[in-house]
Amino acid sequence: MIVTCCGLASWVCAVRINGRGIPRGRLAQLARAPLLHGGGRGFKSLIAQLLLRKATARSQKRTVSPLKIFWLSSAVCASIICALSLVWPAALWLFVIIGPLILLGIYDSSQRSHAVIRNFPVIGRARYWMETVRPEIQQYFVESDTSGRPFSRELRSVIYQRAKIATDTRPFGTIRDLHEVGSEWIAHSLRPIHQKTDGPASQQEPRVMIGEGSCDQPYAASMLNISAMSFGSLSKNAILALNGGAKLGGFAHNTGEGGISPYHLECGGDLIWQIGTGYFGCRTTDGTFDPDRFSEKAKTKSVRMIEIKLSQGAKPGHGGILPGSKVTPEIAEIRGVPVGLDVNSPPSHNAFSNPKGLLDFLVQLRDLSGGKPVGFKLCIGLPSEFLSICKAMVETGIVPDFITIDGSEGGTGAAPMEFSNSIGMPLTDGLLFAHNALLGCNLRDKIRVICSGKIVTGFNMIQRMAIGADLCNSARAMMFTLGCIQALKCNSNHCPVGVATQDPDLIRGLDVSSKKHRVHNYHRKTVESFLDILGAAGLSHSDELQPQHIHRRVSPTEVLDYGRIYQYLTPGVLLSKTDVLLPKTGRTNGFFSDAWELASAERF
Ligand SMILES: Cc1cc2nc3c(=O)[nH]c(=O)nc-3n(C[C@H](O)[C@H](O)[C@H](O)COP(=O)(O)O)c2cc1C
Repeated sequence: MIVTCCGLASWVCAVRINGRGIPRGRLAQLARAPLLHGGGRGFKSLIAQLLLRKATARSQKRTVSPLKIFWLSSAVCASIICALSLVWPAALWLFVIIGPLILLGIYDSSQRSHAVIRNFPVIGRARYWMETVRPEIQQYFVESDTSGRPFSRELRSVIYQRAKIATDTRPFGTIRDLHEVGSEWIAHSLRPIHQKTDGPASQQEPRVMIGEGSCDQPYAASMLNISAMSFGSLSKNAILALNGGAKLGGFAHNTGEGGISPYHLECGGDLIWQIGTGYFGCRTTDGTFDPDRFSEKAKTKSVRMIEIKLSQGAKPGHGGILPGSKVTPEIAEIRGVPVGLDVNSPPSHNAFSNPKGLLDFLVQLRDLSGGKPVGFKLCIGLPSEFLSICKAMVETGIVPDFITIDGSEGGTGAAPMEFSNSIGMPLTDGLLFAHNALLGCNLRDKIRVICSGKIVTGFNMIQRMAIGADLCNSARAMMFTLGCIQALKCNSNHCPVGVATQDPDLIRGLDVSSKKHRVHNYHRKTVESFLDILGAAGLSHSDELQPQHIHRRVSPTEVLDYGRIYQYLTPGVLLSKTDVLLPKTGRTNGFFSDAWELASAERF
């Protein structure tokens, strides 16, 4: 009996001390034992029942709601101030602080759009405030030099430094993990060429001829040019500075699909006029292509080439989007659209509907422009559709002067998230495919291939040219030279540095006279870096660059060069009646054979 009592007492103590730790399941099991069971089990059951009831009551006990706390504290504060004012009348001034907070709380608790604020008046607003400053905190305090996206701090810094002609060298060695899978480098030579003295840079930056043989007015393009960004997505000062930089450096500035504005013409830099599905600047009132308006503008001296936009990497298959907040009266007039309403260009052209139609349109533009080079821009989607265009080229003998391949990693002013994340081929794959398709059709030497998609450094240019590109375009790197801080607000009209906004108060921050020099400096230093790297590899011209020059770590213990990683087709192989054989292995390339089979010059 004594032992049972002691055991029971110690069990009760243990339960009291560890009560919260006994699982509810165990308590319920004990509570179910018959009360009058011998050996103390009946008492255990009784106590377990009591404890279980207590635990249930505790878990169901409700805390005081934040809303009640708000009402209570408002009432207490108001009462204290009133009471205090009896002895110290100036205390009533405290209502200047407390009053608005109480009114804000009343509003918060009655509004219906935000549950957090409705349940936690006033204080719940902190969540929204923290969400607003989250990108800044992330950028300034959380991200590392290499982790920021879309562009890391390391890349942004090198652009700023080159644009400002500040020190752009790095001390102490690389901060990258060169053993990481995917890391790439160019193989240097033991007989490097010093580009500044014995390479082409000693005379002049090498140029790439576009439209030679097919156009009356071919264009000698720089290796690096400004990719399409329209007036509308960018501010007038941004356009002025980009074009001013292009003029200083002798490189080309693509207008984007928004048409040619007076700001594109003011500084006299070379222009590539982009014609999108909205035909802005050359459209009739019902939104179709207007040949007369086109001809008049295309003959402007600054316009050096014409680019038909089929698609763009950041939103392929989706028309252009200009948010209504950016559609000022001036932009509305240039584009021929209503002020303040979203401008959504259609996803496809109405001037043609199949590959042969595209090529006919291209010839029409070439003629209407007085013989200027014409090409098209796209992000690769269905391989058979691109091959359909190639088939049409082979059948008609009409070839574009250039094709711009944009990677799905490319930028935009505004795009649906799914389109940016999950549609279209990234640049490496798209470029390789297009290069191979043209090789396979014996067309590669007739067409210049331009590429864009996160090209920032001289080495990025080298990587793309080793795959098959002739020249490069850059959009966002050029925005950084204008002072872009990657605030990710291009779609909101609130760009804090006046680059991607139409708000005059913000635009005034972008000083054209200094920024145009930064655009020029960045271009010059990047092309210099590109030539320096070529020299280090013992090459004097980009034509000598081969896929074998670039190496990639494909596993912790294996490194392959592009020549081994990627397959290149034998020139003309798609035109032969035999299977598409791979030159090195002799195996059939089923991917190209199947896509070529599906391709038709009559339909996309
Ligand atoms: C603000 C902004 C506006 C753009 N507008 C256009 C456009 O009008 N037409 C077009 O073809 N591409 C447009 N692009 C895409 C760029 O021309 C380019 O293809 C893409 O950003 C990839 O280059 P990047 O990685 O150097 O930025 C735009 C990009 C940005 C960032």
